Amino acid sequence: MTGEMDGQQIQDAVREKYARVAESAEGLFQYATGREGARALGYEEQTIAKAPPELMTSFCGVGNPLSLGHLRKGEVVLDVGCGAGFDLYVASRILGEHGLALGVDLTPEMVSVAKQNLERAGVRNAEVRQATCEALPHESATVDVVISNGVFNLFPNKPRSFAEVFRVLKPGGRLQFADIVLDEDLPREIVGSLEAWSN
Ligand SMILES: C[S@@+](CC[C@H](N)C(=O)[O-])C[C@H]1O[C@@H](n2cnc3c(N)ncnc32)[C@H](O)[C@@H]1O
Repeated sequence: MTGEMDGQQIQDAVREKYARVAESAEGLFQYATGREGARALGYEEQTIAKAPPELMTSFCGVGNPLSLGHLRKGEVVLDVGCGAGFDLYVASRILGEHGLALGVDLTPEMVSVAKQNLERAGVRNAEVRQATCEALPHESATVDVVISNGVFNLFPNKPRSFAEVFRVLKPGGRLQFADIVLDEDLPREIVGSLEAWSN
């Protein structure tokens, strides 16, 4: 339990918010999103320019997890909370035809948009499924790198989610994620607000 809220209530509020973001992230965050957001976070201009516009509309990452370590051709990468698929698109190009970019997202609308976006972008080495990080649908020790962008802060059960990430990682696998962290305690009214959790 988190104050008056339980994990299910938090996840329902998160799903409701990201169903809206799946249409467009514009105006729904306190930081830059879409193409402008990707530029501010240091993604390569060439990559952003080549991405279909629809792939950028719902991008709401908070960093660039792919800048934290090199992906190798042929590796299996899992993007937890992949949203509309921008990081999967970038990863798929690095991994090449023998690599695999897997994505999961809690929100069905995001999954559907990501699938359409990746197909539109001509990506053949990616697969997106609807699932929560608390129960990943992948076999143990099958993933080389887990990436995530702006997602762990939304998990009501962080220990469970990290346990799942480490279950699916191969021995010696890597975790590269960007997220929001608090540097001081929040007032109780904010901790107890479903809106704050889902933002
Ligand atoms: C801030 S958005 C980031 C989306 C994407 N990574 C990006 O950079 O555009 C957070 C995403 O995490 C997903 N999400 C939230 N909680 C989740 C959970 N427990 N398991 C899987 N995905 C989750 C949301 O549906 C949403 O698409």
